[in-house]
Amino acid sequence: MQERSRVRLWLGRAGCALAAVPLACFAVPPAYPQSASSPDVASGQPVPVEQPLPYSHKTHVALGLQCRDCHAIGDPGFLAGYPAEATCMACHSVIKTDSPHIQELARFSSEGSPVPWKRVYRVPDFVWFSHASHVVDASVECETCHGPVAEREVLFQEKPTTMAACMACHALNNAPNDCDLCHDPG
Ligand code: HEC
Ligand code: HEC
Ligand code: HEC
Ligand code: HEC
Ligand code: HEC
Repeated sequence: MQERSRVRLWLGRAGCALAAVPLACFAVPPAYPQSASSPDVASGQPVPVEQPLPYSHKTHVALGLQCRDCHAIGDPGFLAGYPAEATCMACHSVIKTDSPHIQELARFSSEGSPVPWKRVYRVPDFVWFSHASHVVDASVECETCHGPVAEREVLFQEKPTTMAACMACHALNNAPNDCDLCHDPG
């Protein structure tokens, strides 16, 4: 099943899939904007990402909600995913309805338009990464790759997603590190 979705993924990424030369797609610059959250590497200071609503993981995880209540890792398992607005409204149709932020949330929900959350973690399209492979199959905890999210009012990128970081963890866990594990063989 992983193999089949992998093929679909690469076919969807025509720039890489059609490249005749192995690894040729790496010459293509990333087509996405730089993460809004790049940590200030020079100072080591975290740079929180400004989100459309002041959502706090600390507040919500303290209520007893589990990570995967909101990040369900649906098929095919690449993405952890964001919660549907209806998930939020299960509480917020009655909780804090006088807040302008909650009124905005209710508006997104009733209009059926997803809250435009800004991405914090992102790898380029030429990298194969699957949440299901790590979280479900290999039992890696969210916190290992995302830090102590439950303690954060605002998220920022606090763990690296560089090739070196991926490969270091693979080496540590005796996971494979062949180039075509994470990249299209061409
Ligand atoms: C299990 C119930 C529950 C769910 C589900 C829930 N919340 Fe909350 N939320 C709360 C509670 C409780 C508070 C704290 C209210 C207070 O400060 O009195 C809160 C506070 C907030 C606030 C701060 C509001 C303000 O102006 O102070 C925002 C924004 C918010 N939630 C957004 C969301 C979003 C977005 C979702 C869905 C991803 C969500 N909530 C899901 C219970 C919930
Ligand atoms: C009530 C729903 C809810 C729960 C529970 C929840 N999250 Fe989230 N999560 C969100 C929302 C909404 C966002 C987008 C806003 C933000 O980035 O803060 C988000 C964003 C994230 C991101 C950043 C994604 C990106 O853009 O790269 C990570 C990482 C994350 N959550 C991890 C976790 C972990 C780990 C837990 C459990 C400790 C958890 N979440 C629990 C709703 C939730
Ligand atoms: C092995 C490392 C690793 C683990 C474990 C991990 N993540 Fe991620 N996460 C990443 C990477 C890398 C990205 C960027 C992926 C991309 O750009 O496709 C990401 C992106 C995300 C995103 C934003 C995009 C998306 O996938 O929807 C959310 C939300 C998220 N992670 C939540 C979680 C939660 C919740 C858990 C635990 C259930 C978790 N992650 C476990 C590495 C990890
Ligand atoms: C916390 C340690 C850790 C980190 C960080 C990590 N991985 Fe992994 N990865 C694993 C483990 C463990 C496995 C399972 C190996 C196995 O099946 O033997 C795995 C498996 C994989 C697989 C094979 C999955 C499959 O189903 O074919 C890919 C591809 C992969 N990782 C890519 C990445 C990428 C890309 C990154 C960085 C963005 C990354 N990993 C970061 C631990 C990690
Ligand atoms: C475990 C996953 C993993 C493996 C194995 C891996 N890479 Fe990568 N590679 C990545 C990630 C993640 C990035 C994106 C790094 C970033 O965004 O900073 C990347 C980026 C690249 C780039 C783009 C330039 C750069 O440095 O950012 C090239 C070229 C590349 N890899 C070649 C290779 C080759 C050749 C091999 C085999 C020796 C290999 N990769 C093995 C995960 C991996």
